[in-house]
Amino acid sequence: MAVITLTINDQMVTAQDDQSLLDVLREQGIEIPTLCHLEGLSERGGCRLCVVEIEGSNRLHASCTAPIQEGMVVHTHSERISAYRKMLLELLFAERNHVCAVCVMNGHCELQSQAALAGMDHVRYDYLHPDLPMDASHNLFVLDQNRCILCTRCVRVCDEVEGAHTWDLMGRGIHSNVIADLNQPWGTSESCTSCGKCVQVCPTGALYAKGATVAEMEKQHNFLRWIVEGREKQQWSRGER
Ligand code: FES
Repeated sequence: MAVITLTINDQMVTAQDDQSLLDVLREQGIEIPTLCHLEGLSERGGCRLCVVEIEGSNRLHASCTAPIQEGMVVHTHSERISAYRKMLLELLFAERNHVCAVCVMNGHCELQSQAALAGMDHVRYDYLHPDLPMDASHNLFVLDQNRCILCTRCVRVCDEVEGAHTWDLMGRGIHSNVIADLNQPWGTSESCTSCGKCVQVCPTGALYAKGATVAEMEKQHNFLRWIVEGREKQQWSRGER
């Protein structure tokens, strides 16, 4: 592992070359908003909320997927970045039916929190109001496509951590949907282990526990770090060696 020197917001910092730019920024105590990123899962770079400016490039870069390089000069906060993040959030709200007042995640939703942090008080774009279904066929959980932001945390945790790969995406662009197995009702899935990891990592009310009240539906991510660290240390396989 090599040590790399880069400049972040006019401060020189050092980092390991296998770190993501997002890791380095957070290590420096810099607040970077994220939605599709979740520690313990692979990076997707899909929500673009974590964008930063890198000198020498005209476009904004997602810090969760941007590799760090020697001599890189990074700016994490500017009017351009704030405007871009706000626009992204507005587009997410306009794309589906995020009606917070009747959502079980109201008050605990990461999309709602990010919008508040970004100072979003209205949406400048036409709401698409898509007619999307809910899947309440599972005996424990519900999938509400109306609240889904296509972050794929559920897909990744199911594949990378649970090893079931029940979830995947079908379709393209805004017409994508999360599907169970071969696009069948969740309750009929034979690969789903009913572990609930997908529900816990979902940042919005797209996945929630059946019968949960608004106050109860606070999601817990801590299990992910525990599992990932345990696996790295081979905590549960030592006896078998
Ligand atoms: Fe980096 Fe979503 S957190 S693109």
